[in-house]
Amino acid sequence: MERKRWYKDMVFYQIWPRSFKDGDGDGMGDLWGVLEKLDYIQSLGCDGIWFSPIYPSPGADCGYDIADYMTIAPEFGGMEAFRQVLDGLHQRGMKLIMDLVVNHTSDEHEWFQKSRQRIEPYTDYYIWRPARPDGKLPNNWDSNFEGKAWTFDPVRQEYYLHLFAVKQPDLNMDNPLVREEVKKILRHWLDMGVDGFREDVITYISKPDGLPNDHIFPIYKGMRHYNHGPRIHEYLAEFKRDVFDHYDCFTLAEAPLVWPKRALKYIHEERGQIDMMIQFQCQCADCLFTDYLPTKFSLRRMKRAFSQWQRKLSGQAWNMLYIENHDHPRIISRYGSEDFPTESGKTLAVSYLFQQGTPFLYQGQEIGMLNWRPEDPEMYEDVQSRYQYTHAALNKSPKERLERLWRCSRDSARTPVQWDSSENAGFTTGKPWFYVNPNYKQINVAAQEKDPDSLLNFYRKAIKLRKSLPVVRHGTYREYFARSGKRYVYSREMEGQRLLVVCSFSDKPMKLKMPRGFDLSKAELILQTHPTATDILQSYESRVYLWEK
Ligand code: NOJ
Repeated sequence: MERKRWYKDMVFYQIWPRSFKDGDGDGMGDLWGVLEKLDYIQSLGCDGIWFSPIYPSPGADCGYDIADYMTIAPEFGGMEAFRQVLDGLHQRGMKLIMDLVVNHTSDEHEWFQKSRQRIEPYTDYYIWRPARPDGKLPNNWDSNFEGKAWTFDPVRQEYYLHLFAVKQPDLNMDNPLVREEVKKILRHWLDMGVDGFREDVITYISKPDGLPNDHIFPIYKGMRHYNHGPRIHEYLAEFKRDVFDHYDCFTLAEAPLVWPKRALKYIHEERGQIDMMIQFQCQCADCLFTDYLPTKFSLRRMKRAFSQWQRKLSGQAWNMLYIENHDHPRIISRYGSEDFPTESGKTLAVSYLFQQGTPFLYQGQEIGMLNWRPEDPEMYEDVQSRYQYTHAALNKSPKERLERLWRCSRDSARTPVQWDSSENAGFTTGKPWFYVNPNYKQINVAAQEKDPDSLLNFYRKAIKLRKSLPVVRHGTYREYFARSGKRYVYSREMEGQRLLVVCSFSDKPMKLKMPRGFDLSKAELILQTHPTATDILQSYESRVYLWEK
C-alpha cells in the first residue's frame, strides 16, 4: 500500500495516561478521563494522540514494562474505554498511535515466566547466559537504569540481559518466533483501527553476536554495540514488509544517540523502514549525554541540533519536532526561565513550531507546567531517578543530589495535569496516585482559558497559523546569527512565501536585528508574544514575520 504520509500535516499530543485525567475517581489517570478531554485536545489544533503504554503492567517503569500486549489495563478503563476513545477520535477526524515496547517485556509477562522454566517455545525468547566460571557477569554492559545489565535468575540458574530495569528483561529479537509475536501485536491493534505506533528504544533490538565487552565507553557500557545493532534494519524492514505496508498507518521510532546521517538509514522516504524518528540531540542543550551530566543550558547547542536536523533531512525524510516528553524535565524550567514563564514558554513554542516536521506537544506543556521540587527524595517514583539519587554523584551532599533530581528527574514532567484551582488541581476526585505540583493554583487550564494572552491560547494561535501556511510544510530552512547565544532566528522560504522567525532567549531587552535581505517595511507581523513590536526585543520576546508576493 502506498504510504499516504498524512502525518505531515498533523500536530500530535502525547498523553502519559497516569497523570492526564482521572475519570473514575480512583486517583489514577485513565481513558475515561481522556474521553472527557478529547474536545480540549482538538481545540489546541492537535489532530492525533500518542498514548504512552496503557497495557497491563506491574508498573516498574510506569507501564514501559508490559505484561500483556493484547489488551488495555483495567485501571485505565480496559477495552471498553479504549474503544470509546478510538471511536471518539476517529469521529473527530483525529488519529491514535500506541506505544510499542518490544525491546523488553515485564518479567511478569507469561513469556518470561515460561522462558525461565525452559518451557517451549519460550526458552529462547530472552537473552540468557550461564554464569562464567570465574564468577563474573556474562559481559560488562551497563543497564540504562539500574546498575549492571545482567541479573541472575534463581529458577533458570542463568543470567538474563536487561538494558533497562531489573524487571524489564530484553527480548531475543534474533529468534524468529519473537519477531512473529511482534507482528501479531502490531496486526492486533492495527486491525482494531489504531493508526500507528511510537516504537520504544527500537534501535536497541538487535544485539551483536557474542555480546562483546565494551572497553571504550566510560558510561552506558555496551551501548555502542547494541544501539543500531547489526540486524536492526533487517528486522525493521521485515516488520514493514509483513505488516506496516498492508495498512494505512505510520511509525515513529525512538532513537537515543542518533545523528541525521544515521537517522536517514531508518527514515529515508524511499529507502527507510520507518516514517519518523525521535532524536535526543535537541534535548542535550543542557547536558552532555541526555540528562545525566547536567551543564548550563546552551542555546547554541540547541540551535545547532535544530538546524542540523532541518538541513540534513530536507527533501529526504521528515522531522519529528518536540521540546517535551515524559522522559525529560519541563522545558520552561530547563531552557526557558521560571521568572518569565509565559514569555519564555511562548518563545520555546515559536522556536520549534515553525520548523519543518510534525510537532508533538506533551500534556501540560501547553499551559507551561514547571518542574516539581519535593523536599524528600523518597517522594520520587521513577525507577531511574531513585537509582540515580542512591548511586550517582555520591561525593555530593544529599541536598545537592536532591537538587539534581529537581533539575533532571523524569518525575518533574509526570505530576498530574493541572486542570483548575480546585483540590488536586481538578485531576481527580480521589487521592491522586502521585503528587500534584503545589503551583496548580497559579498554573492551570481553567485560568488560562479565560486569559486571551495565556500560553494556552498562544499555542492555539501558533498551531492554527502553522497549519494555514504552506511554507511551514514545504519551505526551505535557513538559520541566521548562529553564533548568538541569546537569539534564535530562522527563515522558511518557498515560491511566493517567506517567513522569518525571531526568538529572544534573553531575560534582558535587546535590539531587534534583522538578517540582510529582509525588509521589515514590506512584512506582515503575523504572530507576536508581546503586545507591541518595536525595534527592541523584550525579555523572551518572539515574532513571526511573513512576506508574500
Ligand atoms: C524509553 C521510554 O520513553 C522511557 O520512558 C522508558 O523508561 C524506556 N524507553 C524503557 O522502556
